[in-house]
Amino acid sequence: MAEKYSRATLSRNFLKTITRVKKPDEMLEDAKSGGLEKTLGVWDLIILGVGAIIGSGIFAIVGIAAAGNVDGSSLGAGPALIVSMIIAAIACIFSALCYSEFATMIPVSGGAYTYTFATLGEFAAWMVGWVLMLEYAIGFIAVACAWSNHFVQFLSGFQNILPAWISNPPVWLVNDPFTASKIVATNPGTFIPTLFGVPICINLPAILIVLLCTVILVKGTKDSAKMAGIMVFVKLAVIALFVVAGAFYVRPENWTPFAPNGAAGIFAGAFLIFFAYIGFDALATAAEECKNPQKDLPVGIIGSLIITTVVYVLVALVLTGMQDTSVEAPAEFLKAPMAYCMMLANQNWAAGLISIGSLAGLTSVLLVLEMAATRILFAMSRDHFISARFQKLHPKFHTPSLLTWTVGILAVVGILTLNLDVAAELCNYGTFTSFIIVCVAVLILRKTDPDRPRPFKVPFSPIVPSLGIITCGGLMVYKSLQPSGSAVLFPVWLGVGAMIYLLYGFVKNRLNENKIHKQLVEQKKQELCK
Ligand code: ALA
Repeated sequence: MAEKYSRATLSRNFLKTITRVKKPDEMLEDAKSGGLEKTLGVWDLIILGVGAIIGSGIFAIVGIAAAGNVDGSSLGAGPALIVSMIIAAIACIFSALCYSEFATMIPVSGGAYTYTFATLGEFAAWMVGWVLMLEYAIGFIAVACAWSNHFVQFLSGFQNILPAWISNPPVWLVNDPFTASKIVATNPGTFIPTLFGVPICINLPAILIVLLCTVILVKGTKDSAKMAGIMVFVKLAVIALFVVAGAFYVRPENWTPFAPNGAAGIFAGAFLIFFAYIGFDALATAAEECKNPQKDLPVGIIGSLIITTVVYVLVALVLTGMQDTSVEAPAEFLKAPMAYCMMLANQNWAAGLISIGSLAGLTSVLLVLEMAATRILFAMSRDHFISARFQKLHPKFHTPSLLTWTVGILAVVGILTLNLDVAAELCNYGTFTSFIIVCVAVLILRKTDPDRPRPFKVPFSPIVPSLGIITCGGLMVYKSLQPSGSAVLFPVWLGVGAMIYLLYGFVKNRLNENKIHKQLVEQKKQELCK
């Protein structure tokens, strides 16, 4: 074993080894023995898609994208937010078409990770899997904390009914350490307990919702799709309520000036609101669990993207018609813009319902993000990058329970330790990278494997994949030119990923190859003896 391992690592074939691709046929064969149940139909997919997409982006971030940040770190798009939304949607649609081509050609778990393995080889696949953890696992943590903020806001509406410690919980029990320290800086009297001088902050609502999602996912994909279905219905209902009720309070004069900060505001808005579209790609990670992936996946992916774009544009029109976004907006508008506008119109009942809808919206996003993170790790475990133990399915529910619990527990650790502003931006970087790679992968596989049956083909290739690369890359470069913690941390994340591959993933894979090689030799020997 040692002999083969050292030969592999030290050989001049190193580059060849790390760029070796896994053939799509081999992936399909592996998936057959995977044992995940095929339970998802086209409506389950659309529900999962809309469930994954509509969340904190439209319930919270849209306020900053429209009016800008008070500290000036981001310019507002104003009523031109609809243009920002359309730019972000176009970037997503180019990538969505590429995702659809792959998802129907290789309908196995793993999404962008799997497609990269088929085109760019082992190392690139590992790196994409690593980057996707930014999108799904770190995104999961960021949305869990947004859920906690909305939950606390929801509780505050019951001041007259609930005890004060519930309607106005202690800062250290509902915030991460970084947010809590910001609160302490502005309110020096705020109590934070310490242990050996270290401040203790436990974002309890975020931890509880993460554990609840983990239990639901362990119970089964079909159940999760049903839960997501109920929540999708609730959130679409409250958004419809906002659009219809809010339309009566729109003042058309608020729509001028249309773009108070010009093109800079529109692009800043497009980068921010891109977060609101993240999630459609998660559908591709569930390809192995679809009844009819070839037909249903493209409809699910593109359909959910179109539905959400229409919903977002309607919300943006009403929102910017109700609130003047050319002047500094109040903090409440930036945190929960729809509920705030309803309160402004003296429609407190509608504001309350919107709070419930946002909790439902965020919960469905959480379910899909956690599911996507586990399905990518499942595929990585099958490819021997991480322990094969993670492939074990729950005996009764047939879900990767050990993996799901691992992701859940790691998310709890993240909630206790991460700076969440930076986490959300890193999530955007991870997503842009995976979108770009999928577009590149479509172009490569069209050249290297032109005859493979493609039940869905990206139209006007290579133009559409190239436009996907340009739009996603352009927004990513735009953000990298602004000074921010995430612009520095993203390359660090990539560097750490490369190190882990060299010291662990590469080694593990070679050891596995060696094991298989030995087994084959043994088998041949036995055949010869017979
Ligand atoms: N698109 C998801 C959201 O807006 C991530 O929360």
